[in-house]
Amino acid sequence: MPTHVAIIMDGNVRWAEKRHLSRLKGHRAGTENIRRVVETFGQSGVKYLTLYAFSTENWQRPRSEVKELMQILASVIGRETKEMHQRGIRLRHLGRLDRLPGRLQEEVAKSIELTRNNDRMTLSVAFDYGGRAEIVEAARRLLHENADPDALDEEAFGRHLYTDGLPDPDLIIRTAGEMRLSNFLLWQSAYSEYYFTPVYWPDFDAEEVRKALLAFSQRARNFGA
Ligand code: IPE
Ligand code: IPE
Ligand code: MG
Repeated sequence: MPTHVAIIMDGNVRWAEKRHLSRLKGHRAGTENIRRVVETFGQSGVKYLTLYAFSTENWQRPRSEVKELMQILASVIGRETKEMHQRGIRLRHLGRLDRLPGRLQEEVAKSIELTRNNDRMTLSVAFDYGGRAEIVEAARRLLHENADPDALDEEAFGRHLYTDGLPDPDLIIRTAGEMRLSNFLLWQSAYSEYYFTPVYWPDFDAEEVRKALLAFSQRARNFGA
């Protein structure tokens, strides 16, 4: 069983187009799916789940869609935090907070604070996340700290990333048939296993979770040794 599963939740719009629905309906259906997937991975004993919800590149989408995605995040946080807390889930955010609407920043901070001592599962939401931005930010912080260049190693560098304290993902899942990382967890995915499925994110159900975990269990991981 993987300790940490990270998911690139892709295909909301194609799911909607197939049904002659709006892009917004697709994103809503994708959001509805999050609860189900969190529950299924939780039951399987996965301790860390990370969801890629909005990339640094996604700002280039139509302004109305960006606004909708922000509203979706706001409503999810408002609606789900209490339940996640009751179920022992610790929430984290990966990425930049400073470009999100002010109220949303506060809501995210409040959810993180409320759930900080939970230990059944850690759910990290990558929102305004970019792997390259994360690495550059880490380098910038090290320079600001006047870190000793000769003392810098991979572990020390890793502590300056958004994912400080999280284990590297064992399994990265991408839905909707695309086989690329799209700037997700570039540093952390060095030894991850990848699982790609043509299934669109809103259709990625408990059965699909089971298939992904089965595929993972059949991989031989050598870590170069
Ligand atoms: C993933 O679905 C959600 C986000 C990137 C916010 P898409 O919106 O990328 O849907 P497709 O890939 O165009 O179908
Ligand atoms: C990647 O999906 C980002 C998220 C799932 C949040 P995209 O749909 O934005 O990626 P590209 O543009 O197909 O690479
Ligand atoms: Mg996409």
